[in-house]
Amino acid sequence: MKDILQELEDRREQARAGGGQKRIDSQHTKGKLTARERIELLLDEGSFEEFDMFVAHRCTEFGMQENRPYGDGVVTGWGTINGRMVYVFSQDFTVFGGSLSETHAQKICKIMDMAMQNGAPVIGINDSGGARIQEGVASLAGYAEVFQRNIEASGVIPQISVIMGPCAGGAVYSPAMTDFIFMVKDSSYMFVTGPDVVKTVTNEHVTAEELGGAITHTKKSSVADGAFENDVEALTEVRRLVDFLPLSNREKAPVRPFFDAPDRVENSLDTLIPENANTPYDMKELINKIADEGDFYEIQAEYAKNMITGFIRLEGQTVGVVANQPMVLAGCLDIDSSRKAARFVRFCDCFEIPILTLVDVPGFLPGTSQEYNGVIKHGAKLLFAYGEATVPKVTVITRKAYGGAYDVMASKHLRSDFNYAWPTAEIAVMGAKGATEILYRSELGDPEKIAARTAEYEERFANPFVAAERGFIDEVIMPHSTRRRVSRAFAALRQKKRSMPWKKHDNIPL
Ligand code: HXC
Repeated sequence: MKDILQELEDRREQARAGGGQKRIDSQHTKGKLTARERIELLLDEGSFEEFDMFVAHRCTEFGMQENRPYGDGVVTGWGTINGRMVYVFSQDFTVFGGSLSETHAQKICKIMDMAMQNGAPVIGINDSGGARIQEGVASLAGYAEVFQRNIEASGVIPQISVIMGPCAGGAVYSPAMTDFIFMVKDSSYMFVTGPDVVKTVTNEHVTAEELGGAITHTKKSSVADGAFENDVEALTEVRRLVDFLPLSNREKAPVRPFFDAPDRVENSLDTLIPENANTPYDMKELINKIADEGDFYEIQAEYAKNMITGFIRLEGQTVGVVANQPMVLAGCLDIDSSRKAARFVRFCDCFEIPILTLVDVPGFLPGTSQEYNGVIKHGAKLLFAYGEATVPKVTVITRKAYGGAYDVMASKHLRSDFNYAWPTAEIAVMGAKGATEILYRSELGDPEKIAARTAEYEERFANPFVAAERGFIDEVIMPHSTRRRVSRAFAALRQKKRSMPWKKHDNIPL
């Protein structure tokens, strides 16, 4: 009996050794942790339960039958993050470069199926040379089985991808279909084809970092949602994010203890809006002052900075925040910011996370570049996302809400539940200057007349009261009481039930 127990221990030891000490050392030299070290950091101490530790590939080509390491390049199982269950897979670069074989894929699929069945998020740690070259089409089939599950799980359980090494070829498409992608600076890459192929086909000379590093994907392409300095920081931040999210679409986000009075008054907000309507201010200050304990988890902080997206808590409950940022491009809507916010709104809606929208928007960004690249369709994504979202929606207009952008940013007409405005709000078709130049074109030669017309327009329209008269704004509120008003609004909406007409699915402009 003792021998049998010892044999199990020995086999486990073999599995834990992955591709051997030399390759583990090489992983560490690159500043990367091993698959198992990453799982240990991600999950609560001692909570990891492994599946399929002894799975080995079945490939017999290229002498592969002589090399069948336990685990087959991926560590899978489940554990907890602050006591809440998650499923996890972590690719082991020390075994065949973490490449995906048929059996490697089956291990991932098994935990994805269990996660869906049991209602818990899947966190995938990706560090892989892509399809296992020796297995050919069997490994492509394995990828597609994972893709199909990504699609089926979308909107059922949160899916988070952490890119912690190379991620090439088809390997990028599984993360691409998950809800959030995080990367590590200088050690993770995502591209469909690597620098060598790029050079051959297009004659472009580009490094892996430039082509698909963390900075590229968080600043330029928006493929990734966050970039971190190293493995430890990335995994710590994933733990923080999971704390905001529900485990599945069957339950609500967790309610955390909070140590911040919901009726906290912030007198400094009464002077947040500058005297001059064209002077910017930092919308993040408002978000931090509304949030429980000033805690804000920003998503896509480095991309389309004219729009802010992320999570806060109010009375311990998760709320998604979408806000224009007047500090960047005057907070206007454009292609990038519309896409960024639309995807965030849809994430919140599928997981029943209420949405707070903070509005200071002068309109859509004009220009050929925007039009040629389809701002109409991309802007429509955000409009569509807000209109189809049935979660509690609370909107606060702090300053400008002009034109189509007024409609788009969770207006009353898109079935927002509580629409507040600060006294500094200006809700109109456009700003005073633009409006008078169109309405009084014949008087443009007379600056005095135009100044008078502009003043008249400002007096009439640069305020929240015209909208309030019509009930499009439910209440004009004091800036200092925003946290209290917004918290109470969401509290009043906890039992909200609203549904859309039956359909197979909608056809959001893509
Ligand atoms: C089998 C692989 C592998 C792969 C790496 N290895 N990639 N084995 N299949 N795809 C093995 C190497 O042979 C090596 O084994 C070990 O992993 C580490 O690889 P190195 O090249 O030594 O490491 P490094 O220099 O860090 O380079 C990492 C890399 C490079 C950039 C990932 O290995 C690479 O370019 N690999 C191929 C990438 C690729 O083209 N994949 C197919 C993509 S197509 P030893 O024994 O020496 O340690 C694809 C299609 C999917 O994925 C489509 C789905 C729709």
